[in-house]
Formats: sequence, structure tokens, C-alpha cells
Amino acid sequence: MRVVVAGHPLITHKLTVLRDERTPQPTFRLLIEELMTLLAYEATREVRVEPVEITTPVTRTTGVRLSEPLPLIVPILRAGLGMLEGMVKLVPTAEVGFLGMARNEETLQPTTYAERLPESLAGRQCFVLDPMLATGGSLAAAIKFLFDRGADDVTAICVLGTPEGVEAIREAAGDRKVTLVLGALDEGLNDRAYIVPGLGDAGDRLYGTA
Ligand code: PRP
Ligand code: URA
Repeated sequence: MRVVVAGHPLITHKLTVLRDERTPQPTFRLLIEELMTLLAYEATREVRVEPVEITTPVTRTTGVRLSEPLPLIVPILRAGLGMLEGMVKLVPTAEVGFLGMARNEETLQPTTYAERLPESLAGRQCFVLDPMLATGGSLAAAIKFLFDRGADDVTAICVLGTPEGVEAIREAAGDRKVTLVLGALDEGLNDRAYIVPGLGDAGDRLYGTA
């Protein structure tokens, strides 16, 4: 598994505002979207392309276009939905599928309550969006789900992650092709399995349910 932690000062600056408990909901939403666009640049470094011939006003030349089947973007509801616009800005022709997952705050086990994905993901490159990688239970379950459907290449994009979460994803990935792109790798988890220093509950801060 390849792990990329973004090291750009603009990302760190935006993350600092995002973490601040005083940041209001509209700013929080905007920052999640902007951070996603910045992380998408790194996450799509290996997106599959094929050569295409075009004519410029001056001459014929060869460029590239996204290969078929087009990439599938999978936001994990709820919080991953806040990242979707930031991703499709960069890959507007990608297909979008949805996975609804919620972590039981007592047992910390994820449950899947919604799924809207193509029946077969054979040969698909998938990009999973979830701002928070805490214990890793939710993202590990999502990645397993996509491989079981036939995906052969999964990139997960998270705004914040923990060392525990990274290890859980490494275990879930086994020898399959998984890339994990993080805005920052935080210290770890507190006694309620919240990311430290973190930003609190991403879903609540995005949708005003705190
Ligand atoms: C949050 C977050 C991840 C999960 C991370 O979602 O968006 O999906 O928790 O925790 P884990 O790594 O320990 O599994 P939550 O279950 O709170 O649902 P929500 O997006 O609806 O708020
Ligand atoms: N889910 C969140 O939204 N935040 C955390 O810190 C952990 C899980």
C-alpha cells in the first residue's frame, strides 16, 4: 500500500482553520471542498489515461484522455459527501457511486446502511472519499466492499488520518493495489476514538448537527 501525506503549506494553512472549533459551518464546508481539490491533484497522479490525437490551430499533436472505464468516485455518507464537489471539479466526467456507513459510537464497528454502486466494478479505478480515518474500521469495510465487487485499484482520500487507521487499511488492503492520500497524519485517538488533535465530528460540523 502506498501512503501519501500532503506536505503543502496551503493545505496545512487550510487544515488549521478547519480544526479551529470557532470556524463556522459555511467556512468548514468550503474548506473541506477546497482541501479535497488540492488532495485530488495528488490522488489522481496515477489515473489511467490513453493517447489521443488532436489538431491545435497550429499542428497535429498527441495528448491524453481518461481511459474507459472511467474512474468511479465513491463518497462515504455522510461526511464524504462534503468532499464530492471538490473531487468532481477536477474529474468532471467520472461516475459517482455512494456508500452510506455509520460508526457505532459504543462498539466502534461500522454498519453499511446504503449502497448505490454499479453491479460490477471489474477493471474500475475507484476513488473513495471520507474526511476522517480514525480507527480505520469504516474505510477498511468500504475498501473490502469495492474489491469484492471487482475493483482492482482503490485510492482513498482522507483529510485527517491516524497511525492506527493507516495500519487498519494496510491490513485490509493485503497485496491489492491501494493508495491512501492524507491531508495530515495526526497523533492518534482519544478514549472515544476521536482523532487527536483532529477537528471533532466531521459530519456534525458539515451538516450542523453538533
Ligand atoms: C465518521 C467518518 C468516518 C468514520 C471514521 O463517520 O466520516 O466514516 O466516522 O471512523 P473510523 O475510522 O473509526 O471508522 P460517522 O460514522 O460519524 O458517520 P457520519 O459521516 O454520518 O457522521
Ligand atoms: N469521526 C469523526 O467525524 N471524527 C473523528 O475524530 C473520528 C471519527
